[in-house]
Amino acid sequence: MRKVRAAITGIGGYLPEYILDNYELSRMVDTSDEWIMSRIGIKTRHILKGEGLGSSYMGERAVRELLEKTNTDPLDVELVICATVTPDMFFPSTANIISYKCGINKAFAFDVSAACSGFLFALQTGAKYVESGAYKKVVVVGADKMSSIINYEDRATCPIFGDGAGAVLLEPNEEGLGIQDALLHSDGSGAVHLHMKAGGSAYPPTEETLKKGWHYVYQEGQAVFKAAVSHMADTSVELMEKNNLTADDIRFLVPHQANLRIIDATANRMGLPKDKCMINIDRYGNTTAGTLPLCLWDYETRLKKGDNLIFATFGGGYTWGAMYVKWAYDGGNFSR
Ligand code: UT7
Repeated sequence: MRKVRAAITGIGGYLPEYILDNYELSRMVDTSDEWIMSRIGIKTRHILKGEGLGSSYMGERAVRELLEKTNTDPLDVELVICATVTPDMFFPSTANIISYKCGINKAFAFDVSAACSGFLFALQTGAKYVESGAYKKVVVVGADKMSSIINYEDRATCPIFGDGAGAVLLEPNEEGLGIQDALLHSDGSGAVHLHMKAGGSAYPPTEETLKKGWHYVYQEGQAVFKAAVSHMADTSVELMEKNNLTADDIRFLVPHQANLRIIDATANRMGLPKDKCMINIDRYGNTTAGTLPLCLWDYETRLKKGDNLIFATFGGGYTWGAMYVKWAYDGGNFSR
């Protein structure tokens, strides 16, 4: 019997309409387009506006597009996993809300919390349900409304993040295509450098926690930068070696979009030229769980069946990892 692998068979995405550019940001905090472009590589980011709209609003739109493009009946979807650190609310899960809004009424659904590595962790989780033979249609969504936890008076964090969502469909494949291998890691000692302190059970919201700004992202940029460069690059190279892949074998690196300098360092260590690196950080910023699926969404038409892709990520936790995927379809058949 041939091995069943989990293959990505479609992609959907959504970005909110409002675009916050560096010039508008430089009127909000003491920063400049020059600083942000040279240190991070971001020009614009999308921001979700509108009362009561959370990550599920964007996730729903990404999943709707996915279902339409892949001609999938919502009632055939068996599992929905949503990676997010900005859930609509603590419970029910955002995956649950997205499923309901999309008419996915026969699936079970849950969220995965692994910050910027959330999508990769969720993808690996969904893949195991497919590889085991348990399910044939699994939707994995990455959705984050980072603007809901960013302090727009803190110039060290506010230029970095944006809002957005992407979603993929996982289905069984017996031709050797799909997810081949993954190396995933977590290290709680990194929590001190990147976290949101309040709002959970340790520090439930109070007037005091609000005053202290504990409901915003706290990041020690340089410590996170160093860890991101070394972990993303080391794990990607380790995965290449484990699977006997050279730079020539790889069609694209699909990196988490946190900082163009981190992406460049990872690609360099892997021996990959710039044109083999998916990049959209300049337009979307860091959408946390949204970055990897939004890269696939942007580059879908350039992907061909059999292409070797390496996904690489690093984020709060710390969490990080890399995944080797053999692409399962000619993306040129889709247009958007
Ligand atoms: O996705 C989750 C994982 N997160 C990451 O991977 C982020 C990793 N970290 C980074 O990407 C970078 O560390 C940052 C982009 C956050 C910061 O860049 P940096 O090159 O590490 O800058 P820095 O923190 O060392 O600050 C350098 C200078 C400081 O001024 P002084 O002390 O040298 O006078 C900062 O106050 O830049 C100043 N600065 C700014 N200046 C203009 C910090 N933010 C800004 C700003 N505009 N927005």
